[in-house]
Amino acid sequence: MLPKFSSRAFLAPMAGVSDPALRLQCKKMGAGLVVTEFTSIHSIVAKESQLKERMKTIQEFIEFSDEERPLSIQLFGSDLTALEKAAKIVEPYFDIIDYNMGCPAPHITQQMAGGALLQEVNLTQQIFSTLVNAVKKPVTLKIRSGVTDASKFLFRDIAEIAEDEGIQMITLHPRTVSQGYSGNADWNLIKELKEISGIPIVGNGDITTPEDAKNMIDDTNCDYVMIGRGAMGNPFLFEQINDYLKTNSYNEYSFKDRLDSFFDYLHLTNQYTIKFAHIKGQAMRFTKGMKGGSKLRSKITLSKNIEELEKIMNDGYASS
Ligand SMILES: Cc1cc2nc3c(=O)[nH]c(=O)nc-3n(C[C@H](O)[C@H](O)[C@H](O)COP(=O)(O)O)c2cc1C
Repeated sequence: MLPKFSSRAFLAPMAGVSDPALRLQCKKMGAGLVVTEFTSIHSIVAKESQLKERMKTIQEFIEFSDEERPLSIQLFGSDLTALEKAAKIVEPYFDIIDYNMGCPAPHITQQMAGGALLQEVNLTQQIFSTLVNAVKKPVTLKIRSGVTDASKFLFRDIAEIAEDEGIQMITLHPRTVSQGYSGNADWNLIKELKEISGIPIVGNGDITTPEDAKNMIDDTNCDYVMIGRGAMGNPFLFEQINDYLKTNSYNEYSFKDRLDSFFDYLHLTNQYTIKFAHIKGQAMRFTKGMKGGSKLRSKITLSKNIEELEKIMNDGYASS
């Protein structure tokens, strides 16, 4: 059974962005569910045996905290033996196991993973059945609508197979794999998926404001919404969506507030081994759209350590 979610707005998995500190921050700001970035089933299997020798668990490889719960881990890769092993390895630590069938990156699709699987009906069915039988925790799925414009309705068959095999929730990002991030997400496809499905549907794609989230729910009748790029450097969005859905109004936040929230993020990174280059990337995102932001970002790029970065952000704060 799926856990109870405290809100209808979820944080999307984002490789290179959704680190454990950012996830925790979004959770504290009202995200109903947070999902790890996608993780290779082969790397989980390989890491686990190395970690076991050192009496460590997979938590050393995929860092998280209990405060993030309910927490979902996203897996990718289609080798059924590795899939079963990886699912069993991560099961004790996570509340939901999510499967990636949307990633458009060529280095993923070329290894018959991510979005490429949408056109592999038989393999897909085996993947779902392997996962659902391997673990007792709920298994969910994240898909794009299809591979090319000509196959943009592949999600219909995949969703049916998923439901038959016991997948408990589906997130749809209604762009095709070949579309990448161009054009708009076609929310009509989320509406259609909701109409044909008997399991909860998470709508995803192009939500950047509380109004967008409400419109998606109103237009498609989806059960939950998932936000990726709109939440980058902007964890306030979850609180705003929750308030807007409840009361039709929400607090506005200034860029000063956003800079403040970068320091909250920074504080949370202390408990994890997050690389400095990655933290710099987050600093860039927290300054996006800010007056004087591009100047600030060129300084951020040059910073060599946390102290320098803090100073740059503090100066930015003083002059904003
Ligand atoms: C930098 C980045 C990394 C992403 N990594 C993942 C990932 O690991 N797994 C996944 O399912 N989707 C991934 N996505 C896709 C997002 O989860 C989401 O489906 C997509 O960005 C559309 O939502 P948005 O318009 O709210 O950003 C990624 C997107 C971005 C921008």
